[in-house]
Amino acid sequence: MAEPDAGGAGGPPPGAARDWTIAQNWRAYSAAEHAVWDQLYAAQARMLPNRVVAPFMAGLERLGMSKPGIPDFEELSQRLQAATGWSVVAVAGLVPDEVFFGHLAQRRFVAGRFIRSPEQLEYLQEPDVFHDVFGHVPMLAHPVFADYMQAYGQGGLRAMRFGSIHRLSRLYWYTVEFGLIRDGADLKLYGAGIVSSRGESSFALDSDSPNRLGFDLRRVMRTKYCIDDYQRNYFVIDSFEDLLRQTLDTDFAPLYAELAALPDIEIDAILPADRVFTRGTQTHAKRDHERP
Ligand SMILES: [Fe+2]
Repeated sequence: MAEPDAGGAGGPPPGAARDWTIAQNWRAYSAAEHAVWDQLYAAQARMLPNRVVAPFMAGLERLGMSKPGIPDFEELSQRLQAATGWSVVAVAGLVPDEVFFGHLAQRRFVAGRFIRSPEQLEYLQEPDVFHDVFGHVPMLAHPVFADYMQAYGQGGLRAMRFGSIHRLSRLYWYTVEFGLIRDGADLKLYGAGIVSSRGESSFALDSDSPNRLGFDLRRVMRTKYCIDDYQRNYFVIDSFEDLLRQTLDTDFAPLYAELAALPDIEIDAILPADRVFTRGTQTHAKRDHERP
């Protein structure tokens, strides 16, 4: 899966390699499973042009991902290797933080191989192959984003020594999963959690409910997030180059010490120092809370 797990005890599950990878076993997918991919793909291919950042669409094209059916990771990895030196490997489920970060640091993206059922097209709690591959892999063909993902993995291995994984995870959440980016006067999508979700790829740009705030590394690492609903805050980066530079230029050890002494920031808060692109009404979140 794409997100680090809070656990870490024990070894890989039976049948997995020491690095927790398993064979994708592409030939075992049924026609019905490929059809679920195609249905999800078709919906997002209609939704995303003009909404998603240009390198995402370029990545889909370069990696041959418009070909029908669930991608074969070997074929996908060959194309990705040629683009940026990354590859995609299958895992059986959530992997420990150290394993997840270790793969990223080696330019390997770990992906679930199962696909959701036809009844789960709109919502799925656990990331499946559509989220992991359609959502994450196209951006790995972009050289700067590819470097950012590797830097994140290297940073994760270091963060484990400081007990600050949860703060670093927020950086992943608000960039890799739910990031927005400026594109001239417009905002565009790039986060995998958004672009793999039909509902959120509309909500994140069009809804007047969420806040859209300028990205600030320290601020983001103090900000809580929700895992079971659309985001209440989206953070907007200026460019992938800027995101990579902020990550590489930051000395995380003193930052973790500094942040440990500061309170967390609530998921819908706007602070005086924030660059506000949109001040949200939070009507979506309030409506949810009023449900019986
Ligand atoms: Fe993900």
